[in-house]
Amino acid sequence: MLSKFGIQFKYTLVFVITLILIITGLLIGVYHLKQRQLRNEAMAVAEQVVAFRAWVAGAGVVWVDHLAPEFRDFLGKRTGVDANAKVLEFYSKNPALATRELSELANKTTTRATFRVTSDEYRNPANAPDSFETASIELFKNDKDRKYSDALENGVYRYSQPIFVQQSCLKCHGDPKDAPPEVIEKYSDKKAFGYKVGDVRGIISVKLPDVTVTDVLLTLLNPFTLGLIALAFLLNFFYVQRAIIARLKRLAKSTERIANGELDLPLEFRSDSRDEVDYVTRAVDLLRNSVVVAMKRLQKNLS
Ligand code: HEC
Repeated sequence: MLSKFGIQFKYTLVFVITLILIITGLLIGVYHLKQRQLRNEAMAVAEQVVAFRAWVAGAGVVWVDHLAPEFRDFLGKRTGVDANAKVLEFYSKNPALATRELSELANKTTTRATFRVTSDEYRNPANAPDSFETASIELFKNDKDRKYSDALENGVYRYSQPIFVQQSCLKCHGDPKDAPPEVIEKYSDKKAFGYKVGDVRGIISVKLPDVTVTDVLLTLLNPFTLGLIALAFLLNFFYVQRAIIARLKRLAKSTERIANGELDLPLEFRSDSRDEVDYVTRAVDLLRNSVVVAMKRLQKNLS
């Protein structure tokens, strides 16, 4: 069936198939790279959160001298007087609360990554985990060596990493008896107590927009990539045209003329060449010489 077509057509077909295979291979590579990039980006976000929490936890809680209008929540409150007998009020923010406010602020302005902290034993209903987060917490509880868990969900890349209980957390997450009264007052002595050092207390959960195959394909649609593909195509097309097809056609014509009696027709080829067309031409030349010799013998015999 393919014999109906010339080499140029068949070669073009092979070229296009090769191109498709190469591009598919590249896309698979890019997909893996993308997955790694997203994970690295999410890890970088989570590391910032870990650092921020450590900063707050290092001081137990942070005290602020007034509440910002959009962040009215606080854990404890203290009053005092300054040197001029003016009454001062201070509000404390524990690590989780400070992180929640940081995440609300960051998630409002960010263009890519959003994050939050959540737990299976959440004290604040606003921190309740969704299904990906619940599954991640389970994974981390069952495998303490697991560093992260990730997934793709409707065009969103989801990432989470565990938060482990440290000594400094036990004050508010260990025995309720040790807890500051404001914690019990605000959240009761039931929720999120009884932890030991090393337990999974919760997760940092990061969301990033996924990079789709369409995004990747669109990045291939730039003048440089398309130009280089076109150049590769032309290079192949003209090479096959000039180095093979045109020479084969010439050889075929010459061979036909020799067959029609032009026995002294010169054939062009380099005898030391490793090029197959030269090789075939030389073989035709040998054949022609054999015919000449045979004819001479025949003429001799006849005369
Ligand atoms: C001063 C008391 C205090 C300390 C110390 C403390 N926490 Fe908390 N933690 C809380 C309170 C109160 C909440 C509920 C916060 C909120 O309103 O979002 C909470 C919530 C959390 C949550 C989030 C989910 C939720 O809503 O319950 C995680 C995770 C968490 N803490 C982990 C830790 C870890 C890890 C440490 C130690 C590094 C720690 N906490 C130290 C008081 C504390």
